Amino acid sequence: MIAKLLSLLLTLLSLGQAAVDSYVSEASLGGNLFLVNRDYAITADYVPNDLVKPNVLGGSESTMLRAEAAAALEEMFTAAKEEEGYLVVAVSGYRSYGKQAAIHSQKVRSVGKKEALRVSAPAGCSEHQLGLAMDVGRKRNTSLNKSFGDSPEGQWVAENAHRFGFIIRYKAEWEEVTGYMYEPWHLRYVGKEHAARIYELDIPFEYYVAQLRAAQAALAGKGAE
Ligand code: DAL
Ligand code: ZN
Repeated sequence: MIAKLLSLLLTLLSLGQAAVDSYVSEASLGGNLFLVNRDYAITADYVPNDLVKPNVLGGSESTMLRAEAAAALEEMFTAAKEEEGYLVVAVSGYRSYGKQAAIHSQKVRSVGKKEALRVSAPAGCSEHQLGLAMDVGRKRNTSLNKSFGDSPEGQWVAENAHRFGFIIRYKAEWEEVTGYMYEPWHLRYVGKEHAARIYELDIPFEYYVAQLRAAQAALAGKGAE
């Protein structure tokens, strides 16, 4: 872990002042780096203002994303098909606060509160409400389970999603940090530069954002000197 944090610090230092400033201001402003989890919730009335239906397999009213993320998803699915012949399918994108509340309550009823919290975010705590998360599957099997991670399509997604600005948000080894079990199908859009860096560092998004915020605080302190 320490090695990874040091490596991030070195990366930030190697970027030069202007780049660091732009990275940290993005972290504080939110945008593609907006952190949502059980500690950082969004309000019930938050609805992104640029939701669109991506033109991909499975594209529907249930797979809306913010425009930039939708375009990136289209680019990624096209690459999967052209490079490998893989047919990746969109399964679930933007979900309103109300829809997430219904999904979560259903999960609590079926597996109990404790287990439900490992797989389903309470309303206000889901990245799906941001319009920046997409659950993906395979054309032959769109069920969202661990087997997706072992499939050729799932492995391709894990190794290539960052090229298009997406990260695998919930890895098995990060459960204590993210609060969620392994979800090889849940992709979070953060933009290409950040996704490449997070992929390289192989750290949870929580740590990445924390590092950028720490760098921001350090820069602010320097500015005040
Ligand atoms: N399954 C993820 C954690 C969600 O409900 O947003
Ligand atoms: Zn998801």
